Amino acid sequence: MDLDLIKSVLVKDFANFVDRGIFYYNEEDDPISAHLIALDGEKWKKLRANLTPTFSSSKMKFMFPTMVEVGERLKDYLIDVVKKNDELEIKDLMARLTIDVIGTCLFGIECNSLSDPNAEFRKYGKAVFEKPRHHPLIAVFLAGYRNIARKLHIKNLRDDVSEFFMEVVRDTVEYREENNVNRNDFMDILIKLKNEETNDKDKILTLNVIAAQVFGFFVAGFDTSSTTLSYCLYELALNPEIQAKARRVIQEAFEKHGTFTYEMMLDMPYIEHVLQETLRKYPTASNLIRKTMNDYQVPGTNDVIQKGLSVIIPVFAIHRDSQYYPDPEQFNPDRFDGEEAKQRNSLLWLPFGEGPRSCIAARFGMMQARIGLVTILNSFEVSLCSKTVLTYEPKTLFLTPKGGLYLKFKAIK
Ligand code: HEM
Repeated sequence: MDLDLIKSVLVKDFANFVDRGIFYYNEEDDPISAHLIALDGEKWKKLRANLTPTFSSSKMKFMFPTMVEVGERLKDYLIDVVKKNDELEIKDLMARLTIDVIGTCLFGIECNSLSDPNAEFRKYGKAVFEKPRHHPLIAVFLAGYRNIARKLHIKNLRDDVSEFFMEVVRDTVEYREENNVNRNDFMDILIKLKNEETNDKDKILTLNVIAAQVFGFFVAGFDTSSTTLSYCLYELALNPEIQAKARRVIQEAFEKHGTFTYEMMLDMPYIEHVLQETLRKYPTASNLIRKTMNDYQVPGTNDVIQKGLSVIIPVFAIHRDSQYYPDPEQFNPDRFDGEEAKQRNSLLWLPFGEGPRSCIAARFGMMQARIGLVTILNSFEVSLCSKTVLTYEPKTLFLTPKGGLYLKFKAIK
């Protein structure tokens, strides 16, 4: 919990803490398990450098209108649904939004999970978290003894999940190559890297590697973003005055800008503060993990962290510590406004991690959450209902609401 030591591990001495070491992957028997989140060492470094440009500010601006379009589909869907039943399970609903956003914006794949609750992307996306191939304890064991597990040809992912993602990616790549489709998105970057002439004997991108990245980005992206939006709506239902203020800000911005543009999004800092406070109270990745590559002497002490040990940075505990955030249980977006926010040590807010291995898509994640929130608050009021209960699922790696999260929706337009 020591902030200086956290900085050393995540940033200053990152070279000694590059890997997470908690995910098992097996490129040979289970190619799509080798995604950016799990990879280590040089392979991770090369791939990360190649994929980072996808999330630059100019790329975000380019993707903005497409994201807004998917947000509109959510609004239309909600208008219909709320007429029949106004008490909705929002975690699933938000996941259907974020799956469609990621599919459309990054891969040019229409996932249709908003229009069809049984869409395959939703089905297989859910299966990764809810019906994994191995019990979590076995998964930890496999990560700890990965070389033996690979020799025994043990897979990490369910066959149906692997087959589904392989097939979708193969079809998409083939279609784009045959029809010369160029959408300037993440998939294009992957295809270009695959087709690049290079003398590098470790050429990194094959079709399998592309499929692994598509899978990894779905898995890392849809659940984190949708649970963030769910917690945010829950807090706004608990705090109607904050919800009313957020809605006022949105309505004023619409009056000024006319339509929902990228500039309008940047003109609503309060909406960003609402999401930052949500991520403080509910960091979906409640711990960050790094593996020690070589014995490490803790600066200024005689203590040594031995090679191979895991370092765990307890993000949830830091975010809810009253010495850093007075009255930490209170939801207060103003913590992220003005001097208080400027003076705060950046290591006290870690929902996206920090350093070279932090979330590659933090901007994308924030943008889709802002768009989702603006779209919902502009057309609906959310409140608590008889089914609203928040408890956490104890068996998952992420901070997940157990059994979903219910809220009442009322159309206001
Ligand atoms: C609110 C939404 C999100 C949150 C809270 C979040 C959080 C995180 C965190 C905590 C990490 C680990 C950082 C570390 O170890 O220091 C991470 C890594 C990652 N995230 Fe996100 N994320 C979000 C959205 C997304 C989205 C939308 C995508 C993809 C479209 C994505 C893709 C990734 C990937 C690929 C990694 C692994 C990066 C690497 O190992 O180099 N995330 N994310």
